[in-house]
Amino acid sequence: MTDTAPHTAPGATREFFTAWKLYQDVIDHNYMVHRQIVEQLRAWTRRHGRDGMSILDLGCGDAYTVRSAMLDTLHHVRYTGVDLAAPALHFADRAFADSDWTIDLREGDLAQAVNVLDTRFDLVVAGHALHHLDNPAKQRTLTRIRKLLTDTGHAFLYDLITRDNEPRDAYLQRLLADADANWTHLSADQLAAIRQHVENYDFPVDLTTWRHHATDAGFADPDLLFRDELEHYAVLLLTPR
Ligand SMILES: C[S@@+](CC[C@H](N)C(=O)[O-])C[C@H]1O[C@@H](n2cnc3c(N)ncnc32)[C@H](O)[C@@H]1O
Repeated sequence: MTDTAPHTAPGATREFFTAWKLYQDVIDHNYMVHRQIVEQLRAWTRRHGRDGMSILDLGCGDAYTVRSAMLDTLHHVRYTGVDLAAPALHFADRAFADSDWTIDLREGDLAQAVNVLDTRFDLVVAGHALHHLDNPAKQRTLTRIRKLLTDTGHAFLYDLITRDNEPRDAYLQRLLADADANWTHLSADQLAAIRQHVENYDFPVDLTTWRHHATDAGFADPDLLFRDELEHYAVLLLTPR
């Protein structure tokens, strides 16, 4: 492993997330704090959500977070989800089937999708996805997200986030040591697949770096909504300046 983020590797990322069952197991056992993330998005929804609003979900996977936080309270939402992994999008499609939401699911690279989308959104969600991008791409993507938001919109960002100035290698070893010790519902093969993916394709950065990216993109200093005890993950709310 190195501390230098390489170019993104959408092909390899797509391959890993194609085995979607593994990621569903991770969600089911709350290994990546989805329960707390959903609570935060529910709280946002109580304050800012409205029927008919528009949502862009980047790296949406099967849309678990947005569905869990919003589907039972909001109607006629216009939802656009972008992801590299076709199987995840199929799950999302099926899960929305009985809702009154308008669903637009796009298979592709989120860093490219943000350049071609030309409508504005009330909420952009980027969940556990932007750490796959290198730093310049993180910055470019946040800048595009800002431009895609309505003036009263928000970006809800949750991700793997290191301690301040923590080297990537040290962070990943902490994360993987926790997984090996505590993600007990996963098999040895599943844990090995996660290790291989994380060591090759995950490039998390610290909160200070995210704060710089956000303010350079035209957001106010982000609100830190949640940080887990182990300091593996964080949820940030970004408000246009
Ligand atoms: C860890 S999962 C998170 C899924 C979902 N957002 C969640 O919170 O559970 C990361 C997702 O991002 C997708 N992804 C990673 N890099 C991507 C890229 N460059 N463009 C689009 N999707 C990407 C993966 O296919 C995967 O579905």
